Formats: sequence, structure tokens, C-alpha cells
Amino acid sequence: MGSSVKLNNGQKMPLLGLGCWQAPGDEVAAAVEAALLAGYRHIDTAYNYLNEDGVGRGIKAAIASGKVKRSDIFVVTKLPMIGMQAGKVEKYLRKSIKALGLDYVDLYLVHAPLGFAERSESDPFPMDNGKVVLDCSTDLISVWKDMEKMVSLGLAKSIGVSNFTDKQVLKIVSNAKIPPAVHQVECHVYFQQLKMREVCKKYNIAITAYAPLASPGRKVLYEKRGVKIELPDLLNNPVVRLVAEKHKRTAAQVLLRFLVQQDIIVIPKSTNAGRIKQNGDIFSFKLDELDMEALRFLNQGEAGRSFTMLSFPGVERHPECPF
Ligand code: A2P
Repeated sequence: MGSSVKLNNGQKMPLLGLGCWQAPGDEVAAAVEAALLAGYRHIDTAYNYLNEDGVGRGIKAAIASGKVKRSDIFVVTKLPMIGMQAGKVEKYLRKSIKALGLDYVDLYLVHAPLGFAERSESDPFPMDNGKVVLDCSTDLISVWKDMEKMVSLGLAKSIGVSNFTDKQVLKIVSNAKIPPAVHQVECHVYFQQLKMREVCKKYNIAITAYAPLASPGRKVLYEKRGVKIELPDLLNNPVVRLVAEKHKRTAAQVLLRFLVQQDIIVIPKSTNAGRIKQNGDIFSFKLDELDMEALRFLNQGEAGRSFTMLSFPGVERHPECPF
């Protein structure tokens, strides 16, 4: 289903992937299997999501059906903040690979440019008195050197970063033997990441858009953490709805198509079989220049950013806190 982009190391990465954030184990296993059987060839998870075993079960079930081969699937996972130290990367990648039931991952990302205290391997978000317990000794370059080793060990085919600032990306690029292949960032019509896209283009770093629908489902999580951030409602934006009506598509399909049509990789999350199918059906129509211009106009720049580190109370004290 759909097309792919060629990464700076020659590897091909499907433009459409299934996002797995906030999808608990059993639900995610069914969602991954449904997505792979519906034609998705890219799955995005993370150690921090605590669901890699469920993702692995979904992949195994799809392969067992005989309709998909491991070599056809692009699996992405991420180094947790509690593993952000030279010498710890291999341990966490091996744990992820084992949980996923694989021999390697296609892409391993540094989840965020931050370190959290490693109090327990099973607690990626250590908290004290409502604040995250930080490890402020984070050295991005030495972590990146460890990431490069993961490629030579054959544990990751490609490596990349996530949630970095443009300056942090440049720091890695100018000290790397293997430049990042991908930068995964929040990206959607309200926050189109024009500056970051420019920087990444210069170094041939592909962009993956997380929260391409602006993650409406995180409301519950934020309420639980006591975080007050107003969430954008992209699915009901009148311009998006107008373009959707014109093409007889859903608002979600328009939001995703807008990104993939610009070679931005998208990883919409869904655990609903109908919506998984719907989100996958974005390669059978095209937005015209008028639609694209109207959607480009919805960009609010920095004001459109809706994932901030404020959702992790206390993180702003870390010297590398990106936003
Ligand atoms: P669900 O899992 O029940 O489908 P994002 O990918 O931006 O993080 O957004 C994911 C959120 O959007 C989830 O809450 C998901 O809920 C919901 N969602 C995913 N696809 C669609 C769709 N096509 N229409 C409406 N909501 C969707």
C-alpha cells in the first residue's frame, strides 16, 4: 500500500506507518495485525510505550498468515530517556528487539534529547513528588556514537532522532559518521515544521510526522497527569472538512494525504479496524494545488505546536530540553 521514500543510506521507508502510542498490549497486537493485513508495511513503536511485546505478537500473527514477510515490514522503535547514556544503548535496543520478537529493527530513533534517571528498566518515566527525575549529564554526541554502533552490530538498519531542535540536529550531523536518516517530529496542518523541514532537507534527513491528526486521544492521558494544554481539533477544521467533501474523503484522509503528498512520512495511530483501513486509503486520490494552498495556509508556525515537554512536569529543568 502506498509509496515510500529513499533514506540517505539507500534504505526505503514506507510513507505510511501505524502509530502505536497509547495503544495497550492486546489492543495493539490486533491493530498491528489488522494494519499489516490491510497493506501497511511500516509499524512505529517505542520502548516508552510499554507495548513492544504486543506489537511483536501482531507482527508474528501477520507473518504466520503467510501474507507478509519480515523483510517486507519496516519496524521502528526508540531509545528511552532512561537509556540516554553511552554504554546503555545496546542494552535497550536488545530488549526492544527481544520484546518485538525480531532479529533487528529497520530504524532505531533517539526518542528525545533528554536523559531521565534509570531507577528501574521497567519505569521509563521515574517521578518524584509529581516531577520527572532527570539525568542532566546527557551528552548527545556520545549517545549518537553508540547509536552508530547499533548499525555496525546489525541490530538497526538505520538510525535517527526524534523531538530534537534544529541546533541539536546540526550538532549530531557535524559530529556523525552516520548522519540521522530520519527525524520524527510533531507535524500536522497547524504545525507544518517549515524551518525543521528546511534543515532536514539540507542533510537529506527524512521527516516522520507524529500526531498527523494532532492525537485527539491524548486528552485522557493529560487529564491523568494534571496537564492543562488545549488540544487542536483538526478533524473538525472547516477548511479540512471542505476539502474532504470536495474529494468525498474523510477529514483524516485529507490531513494524511496533505503530508504524504509532500513526502512526509505519517504514522497515524488507530486501534479501530475501520479507521486503520480508512487511514491507509490515502494513495488513491490527489489534492490539487488549490487544496494544498488552502491547507498550507492553516499553518500557525510555533503557535501550532501542541506537544510540549510541559506534559512531563519538571522536564524544563533539563539542559537539553527542546521545547
Ligand atoms: P482510535 O485509535 O480510536 O482510532 P494521531 O495519529 O494524530 O496520534 O491520532 C490518533 C488518535 O486519532 C487516536 O485517538 C485515534 O483513535 C484517532 N483516529 C485515528 N484515525 C482516525 C480517523 N480516521 N478518524 C477519527 N479519529 C481517528
